[in-house]
Amino acid sequence: MSDTRVQRRRRYLVCEPRHFAVQYAINPWMHPDTHVDVDLAQEQWQALISAYRTHGHTVDTVEPVPGLPDMVFAANSAVVVGGRVFGSLFHAPERRPESTHYETWFKTAGFDVYRPEAVCEGEGDLVWTGRYVLAGTGFRTTRDAHREVQEFFGHPVISLTLVDPHFYHLDTALFVLDDDNIAYYPEAFSAGSREVLARLYPDAVLATREDAVAFGLNSVSDGRHVFITPQAETLAARLDDHGYVPVPVDLSEFRKAGGGIKCCTQEIRS
Ligand code: ARG
Repeated sequence: MSDTRVQRRRRYLVCEPRHFAVQYAINPWMHPDTHVDVDLAQEQWQALISAYRTHGHTVDTVEPVPGLPDMVFAANSAVVVGGRVFGSLFHAPERRPESTHYETWFKTAGFDVYRPEAVCEGEGDLVWTGRYVLAGTGFRTTRDAHREVQEFFGHPVISLTLVDPHFYHLDTALFVLDDDNIAYYPEAFSAGSREVLARLYPDAVLATREDAVAFGLNSVSDGRHVFITPQAETLAARLDDHGYVPVPVDLSEFRKAGGGIKCCTQEIRS
């Protein structure tokens, strides 16, 4: 079946973890006294970039800024659909300054950037499926932001409520495989949101709690290859059964901040 899965080449924006650290705690994975091995983080991150390039994707980089240890999580900076950039407004004051640095990158690259009025954390919570936006709320991005996103893009926005603080961003509990399907961890969602997902995606690939805790849902798919943590073994096997090709990339050092592969990756859709 894997011959039926078609890759689409992507453009990704990433930020080198030169200043990556855990200095504050804004999600349950973070403990401020945690030592981060920056050399190891750099190595793991470079392996992710190499994997993207090896598979034919374009990778752009934004310059990291000292004092912004979470800036490496590029996915939170914006959501980009059809060349239109909906920027970010972080929940945590510690992360708020990141938005302008990313905005500068986008402007220099030739994009206009919409500055949201409501709290929203880019692709962390706003996931483009190819037809509409799945939008997480409960911990970070607000429902007001969901309305703003719909107004800005003119695409339907489907609000989903996250209920487990370990999965505080939608991209820790769900990712898009291609225009027709997703993978997710049902228990991260409220009962009603679970029903919505089951209706929209009756053939979704479901993850176990072990997969989710390993950040297996914080994955990036190009339609065929799925860049995924090697610890999400059950999920990788299920993806393989569905004809996708798991490409293991270990970003274990970033889990100390509550992040993984997708968190480090902003997709620029032209
Ligand atoms: N420490 C960061 C935070 O809590 C991690 C962000 C992870 N990014 C993501 N797209 N889930 O904000």
